[in-house]
Amino acid sequence: MELVRTKDEVRRAVAGRRAGEKIIGLVPTMGGFHEGHLTLMRLCAGRAGFTVASLFVNPIQFGPGEDLESYPRHEQRDRELAAGAGVDLLFAPAVDEMYAPGCSTFVEETELGQGLCGASRPGHFRGVTTVVTKLLNIVQPDLAVFGRKDLQQLMVIRRMVRDLDFPVEIIEGPLVREPDGLAMSSRNVYLDESRRAAAPGMYAVLMRAAAQIAGGQRQISAALAAAREEIERKTGGRLEYLEALDNELAAADEAAGCAYLAAALQLGATRLIDNVRVPPGGSGDGPDG
Ligand code: PAF
Repeated sequence: MELVRTKDEVRRAVAGRRAGEKIIGLVPTMGGFHEGHLTLMRLCAGRAGFTVASLFVNPIQFGPGEDLESYPRHEQRDRELAAGAGVDLLFAPAVDEMYAPGCSTFVEETELGQGLCGASRPGHFRGVTTVVTKLLNIVQPDLAVFGRKDLQQLMVIRRMVRDLDFPVEIIEGPLVREPDGLAMSSRNVYLDESRRAAAPGMYAVLMRAAAQIAGGQRQISAALAAAREEIERKTGGRLEYLEALDNELAAADEAAGCAYLAAALQLGATRLIDNVRVPPGGSGDGPDG
């Protein structure tokens, strides 16, 4: 696996492979690799003849007081893991390589990114869509893989790619869980022992509520109210949101239209997000991914 730090190096490496008629795949990441990232990389490498991963902690998607400074940065370890997961080229630019001084152009999706995480993290999705646009322009991949753990991000990026005619296929990668059900996240390392032990409580309650809604045992509003109370009691955290959503991320008010339950939980200083399908089942809804 080759490591490069500049856009020019990426363009040169990719141009050679494209001329050789290889399918180019991209996995955008911020590093702190865990099995969730590696699953996306393997998925990409299985579909593409040349897999590029980006490793860039994107400052413009963090708000004031968020964890930009403390975000896990372990480049040497990440390099080894990415190489083992089939990445051919790792693009790890510095901030001033990605953003020219005085950079004043941003890309914003204005509907799907407003609620849920977008409501409590103003500017977050604008930072994501801007950096993903830049990565798509730099790499010009045929396909790009994003995990379902960040469900809203996945939907926002799909919408942006549709609206702005990017010639790229967006592939949904599975949500990968720890054996106890906690969704894998680079931020899980922030949890102390007792919060780490309590955190899977959110997943267990989401799964039960999803089954109750799908089985018609409870109306959505009643299932959500009970689940909200139980998640906060079990985890000791504070829910930012727990919503029933349809396939377009709009609030679902009838079981038939409900596709996901999605939640964000503040557990001490750590913000965790998770989602399960309704009815539960399929990739990402069991602890085995
Ligand atoms: O999901 C992430 O790690 C980031 O939001 C992404 C897509 C790499 C953009 O910085």
